[in-house]
Amino acid sequence: MSFLIINIKELIQVEDKPQRMVAGSAMSKLNTIKNAWLLTDGCRIRDFGKMPVPEAVSVMPDNERVVIDATDKMVFPSFCDSHTHLVYAGSREIEYIDKIKGLSYEEIAKRGGGILNSAKRLHVATEEELIGQAMVRLNEISMLGTGAVEIKSGYGLNTADELKMLRVIQALKTMSPVKIVPTFLGAHAVPEAYKGRQGEFVDMVISEMIPQVSSEDLADYIDVFCDRGFFTVEETDRILNAGMKYGMRAKIHANELDYSGGIQVGVKYNALSVDHLEFTGDEEIECLLGTETMPTILPGAAFFLEMAFAPVRKMISNGLPVAMASDFNPGSSPSGNMQFVLSMACIKYRMLPEEAINAVTINGAYAMGLSEDYGSIARGKIANFFITKPIPTFSFMPYAYGSNKVEQVILNGKMIHSPEAK
Ligand code: NIG
Ligand code: FE
Repeated sequence: MSFLIINIKELIQVEDKPQRMVAGSAMSKLNTIKNAWLLTDGCRIRDFGKMPVPEAVSVMPDNERVVIDATDKMVFPSFCDSHTHLVYAGSREIEYIDKIKGLSYEEIAKRGGGILNSAKRLHVATEEELIGQAMVRLNEISMLGTGAVEIKSGYGLNTADELKMLRVIQALKTMSPVKIVPTFLGAHAVPEAYKGRQGEFVDMVISEMIPQVSSEDLADYIDVFCDRGFFTVEETDRILNAGMKYGMRAKIHANELDYSGGIQVGVKYNALSVDHLEFTGDEEIECLLGTETMPTILPGAAFFLEMAFAPVRKMISNGLPVAMASDFNPGSSPSGNMQFVLSMACIKYRMLPEEAINAVTINGAYAMGLSEDYGSIARGKIANFFITKPIPTFSFMPYAYGSNKVEQVILNGKMIHSPEAK
């Protein structure tokens, strides 16, 4: 089947020659076509152009073609959310209240809250329960415009529960229309049972977890929470080294709580991305320049934990690319709303709408190893896009924060959300 979308007010992020990502001053360039049409063919984008629809396209024999008139509406490539922990059990509002009363994220973690709290809940949850809860979140984010998402393990903290989480992620891949990329995050926190024996926990991640994750082929990437109070640079180095031997490329949490050396160790292992980066100085920027590693910012976590914002303007003016992701998780960012991320990018990081849109589409796709097929409107890419409600300009997307501007969602060339279809 195919969709022909006509009279599109503006078709956003179109590429004739697809790029893997955009960096520095190129981030402020966003290619669009005003008054456009777009044609899909099965799960892929076939063609697009300026109205009127060419004769050759109009007369194409296709019994199953659906024509959608998008007058006053825009079409965007689906958001690519390259960092989430959206498989988790329950929620953590109690800590939220502790935080309001003045406790820090690290203080909450030290009291056995935080990641350890989610690990306890995950331990007693069945795979079916976890799948059910995660599907609700996946449905929600898909309606908000997300078409591809990375999901990390990390609430297991023992081999059996980490494997359980990763199997849940595998099951979600077959159930959700959203493209899912799995990451193994064995070293997210030190479990109670290993208190004071952190080195032994790291040994266990390396000798037991990594080989089993790999033998079941459960993850594409490997992550470590490399930061003050969590895992050291040396421990991260050992884990990434082991992961690499098993074919898992690094994609790590770094520099959220301090100048922890996380960026440097990520770059050393040619990490696909280093994420958070609130503590990024000249040395870290220098280290990232000219590498294949995507600096990834998580505005939701910085907002929710009231942290300093990463120096995004400085990073871009030095020529770096920037991706932005939701960090959807129960502790530091209980929201996977990429429209909110887009607004935060502009309001708090002073990114131009063009830069912000690049950060949540093509650069997010790159940070999941998906930019060949996702992240822009290009011929041959997967047909993952959304049609907006009537909006005056593309800048209205970040500007009108807090409301859902997405009306219809097409993923893999199929309509998965449409108000008329209700
Ligand atoms: O990205 N920083 C580490 N991990 C998550 C938080 C996980 C949690 O608190 O449950 C994050 O912020
Ligand atoms: Fe995270």
